[in-house]
Amino acid sequence: MTDLFSKFDPLIQQRDQLLASGVTDPFNLVMEKVESPTVAICNGRRTILLGTYNYMGMTFDPDVVAAGKKALDEFGSGTTGSRVLNGTYGGHKAVEQALKDFYAMDHAMVFSTGYQANLGIISTIAGKEDYIVLDIDSHASIYDGCALGNAQIVPFRHNDIEALEKRLKRIPEGHGKLVVLEGVYSMLGDIAPLREMVAVSKANGAMVLVDEAHSMGFIGEHGRGVAEAQGVIDDVDFIIGTFSKSVGTVGGFCVSNHPKFEILRLVCRPYVFTASLPPSVVATAATSIGKLMDSADKRAHLWENSKRLHSGLRQLGFTLGTQEPQSAIIAVIMPDLEKGAAMWEALLNEGLYVNLARPPATPAGMTLLRCSLCALHSEDQVGEILTMFAAAGRATGCIS
Ligand SMILES: Cc1ncc(COP(=O)(O)O)c(C=O)c1O
Repeated sequence: MTDLFSKFDPLIQQRDQLLASGVTDPFNLVMEKVESPTVAICNGRRTILLGTYNYMGMTFDPDVVAAGKKALDEFGSGTTGSRVLNGTYGGHKAVEQALKDFYAMDHAMVFSTGYQANLGIISTIAGKEDYIVLDIDSHASIYDGCALGNAQIVPFRHNDIEALEKRLKRIPEGHGKLVVLEGVYSMLGDIAPLREMVAVSKANGAMVLVDEAHSMGFIGEHGRGVAEAQGVIDDVDFIIGTFSKSVGTVGGFCVSNHPKFEILRLVCRPYVFTASLPPSVVATAATSIGKLMDSADKRAHLWENSKRLHSGLRQLGFTLGTQEPQSAIIAVIMPDLEKGAAMWEALLNEGLYVNLARPPATPAGMTLLRCSLCALHSEDQVGEILTMFAAAGRATGCIS
């Protein structure tokens, strides 16, 4: 018998080697208590959270929590059914209406996660004779959506407008084309040149899908994302998003103005063949989205936090993923996994949680400490974070 697990041996070896060095397992941390969107207790210690994607700090918003409790009492703990059978409650319609209002779009379809939204929409709209042209640094859920469908996949170099144009022009006449982009790329925190890319896509007869998972609520005048900030939202055919970041709960969605959009509810397998979100979740999401529409002050404060952390880390001597802050994600580039894990642990011991990211999730084989800021981080907390980076960086030899 061939052991089907033998393909994991290199990874098992790498993990064993890392843990043998005595470092705390960076992928097995337990949050013992969560006090607020910015503070938790980890290993019995007060820890500032800087790796949660809880950009707008909605997880403890009193209105959001109250809406969830009320729905739990009134509708129970789950729907136990698909959206197309017994799993559509008033709350599911209400959250779809909240999304239509938020994006000022005609249609909204809610999935059980953002992962499933990409899986479902991409695999359903791009079929056998079609082409998907996508940025090579796309999120795993985008690649998995491509893998689930039968379209031809054409990747292009990250954020390279000319490469996108070349790939589009090479596609034979008469085929459907879908260009898949992200507003913010979550590994390095850089944004896409959507204005140019959407124009090139349209000029070459392609439909455009933009995943705005990391920009919703924060980027753009109304928090609609990078497509809004760059003035091209009306030319984007599909926006994908998630409730697991700025919205502060779990779930995913697609919004669109396509006149035939509603047919997807019958043909999109990751929508049909799974249970819908619990009533408490859709209630919290609808309340949160409503409040995000009116959060200009929080957006402004989050930009301030992002700028302060970015310039502070640069001054300390760290190498960052972007020259300027482009989003609420700031990636600190580590020389290798060992140093990355040591720095991650040193930060945790100081009382700071960040995300450790490594290949294959990261581009170009990089090890990253990904920091994601929250609108509820105070100026003092950003100061504390910088002090902890300085201490951990010196202790591990990452900075001098
Ligand atoms: C760009 C992007 N798209 C989609 C997702 C999936 O979102 P969810 O957590 O709702 O499954 C993520 C989550 O990390 C993401 O970064």
